[in-house]
Amino acid sequence: MSIDVVVLAAGQGSRMKSALPKVLHPIGGKPMVQHVLDRAAKLGDIKTHVVIGHGAQQLQGALEGQSLTFALQTEQLGTGHAVAQAMPAITGSGVALILYGDVPLTSSVTMQALVDIAATGKLGLLTVQLSDPAGYGRIVRNDDYQVIAIVEQKDANPEQLAISETNTGIMAVPCERLSKWLPQLSAENAQGEYYLTDIIAMAAQDGVEIAAIQPESEEEVQGVNNRIQQAQLERWYQRQQAEALMVAGVSLADPARLDIRGTVSHGQDVMIDVNVVLEGKVILGDQVTIESNCVIRDCVIESGAHIKANSHLEQAHVGPACDVGPFARLRPGTELAAQAKIGNFVETKKAQIGVGAKISHLSYIGDAQVGAGANIGAGTITCNYDGVNKSRTEIGADAFIGSNTSLVAPVTIGKGATVAAGSTVTKTVADSELAVARGKQRNISGWQKPVKR
Ligand code: UD1
Ligand code: CA
Repeated sequence: MSIDVVVLAAGQGSRMKSALPKVLHPIGGKPMVQHVLDRAAKLGDIKTHVVIGHGAQQLQGALEGQSLTFALQTEQLGTGHAVAQAMPAITGSGVALILYGDVPLTSSVTMQALVDIAATGKLGLLTVQLSDPAGYGRIVRNDDYQVIAIVEQKDANPEQLAISETNTGIMAVPCERLSKWLPQLSAENAQGEYYLTDIIAMAAQDGVEIAAIQPESEEEVQGVNNRIQQAQLERWYQRQQAEALMVAGVSLADPARLDIRGTVSHGQDVMIDVNVVLEGKVILGDQVTIESNCVIRDCVIESGAHIKANSHLEQAHVGPACDVGPFARLRPGTELAAQAKIGNFVETKKAQIGVGAKISHLSYIGDAQVGAGANIGAGTITCNYDGVNKSRTEIGADAFIGSNTSLVAPVTIGKGATVAAGSTVTKTVADSELAVARGKQRNISGWQKPVKR
């Protein structure tokens, strides 16, 4: 059976007050509409149609490269009209699942349940009981408790307004029925719109059973119309992720103070302190500890590593049992071998740091290789940029770089070599040599201190 997913995303979203189309606003760092597409993709072999209108170009650009069909709705004449725009591309005779691009967190399980209903020839409708149903379409049932219609808020009589069961807008419909009903819609209603919801009464008329199911939680069907609702849904989404991590054995000092904007995989006994942001693809080994206020984006952190407070890591690979921070900044291309130590106010970029090497304080190490066991003194700088080109610095195993050294790249420091503190190194230092490249100290005896004039 074919599944055609129709995602409605042509509305303006004016209450977001944004230059960005509403459905591109993120939840957990991912555009809302992408959540919808990703969840629908779990249904298996589907064809997806996105109905676009406002911000069509921007939206199409943002979703480029995915296997989607776009249907342009030049005028927003209602949800029924929107679905109709996708119909020419719906060739399957199976089920159409209708989703909203601004209702991001409907679960695949709920979607599947609706599809399963429609696969039997019925209409699967997702409804929800709301204590405050204002604004939503109301579900009208007959004396046998069968759904017979949906009436929109603006068209409802007082009796209908008192109904608390509301339409989420999400439904699954046999395609052949849908293509028959849509052309029969009329815009003769309070809003002058072609309401998709009018197909419910048509179904009832045609003797098609309407099976209403409810989502597991209200948030699953919550739409985002403004930034307050976006933030509310963001909190719920983060709570879900935090709980999933805890269930899987990760300790969180405060589940409300972790934000995941991407995916996290992890080993056993990971500990995460407060105010940590994990972005992109983050892979954590066993017994990794992340202290407070760290931002970690697209990183692999191997077992036993300890990331101390206020560190920022991006596209870095941290080897087993490494010690990073506090206040460290690992930039893209940083690779720490096992037991390396990066201390406070150290910035690294495109740097391979060997096993057990230490860069403990106040350094910039970029475009560099540091051998195993090397010790980089406080304030060491790799001068990798001459204003035009970037050059590399090679530091051999067990080398000792004295504090406040400038290594002017390209330059090589041999294995076991020592560089005296305060040196500006411009030439190769051979293995085991001592390099001293600084002004010689002169002591002047009998020197008179100046006196105040
Ligand atoms: C619709 C339902 C209502 C339901 C509510 C749930 C209809 C007539 N009413 O309300 O029963 O309780 O959703 O939120 O269906 N869209 C288009 N093109 C259009 C109109 C809408 O793409 O011409 C898209 C919007 O971008 C949005 C979705 O459809 O993603 C819903 O539109 P919205 O205007 O929010 O829904 P309502 O019609 O108010
Ligand atoms: Ca809405």
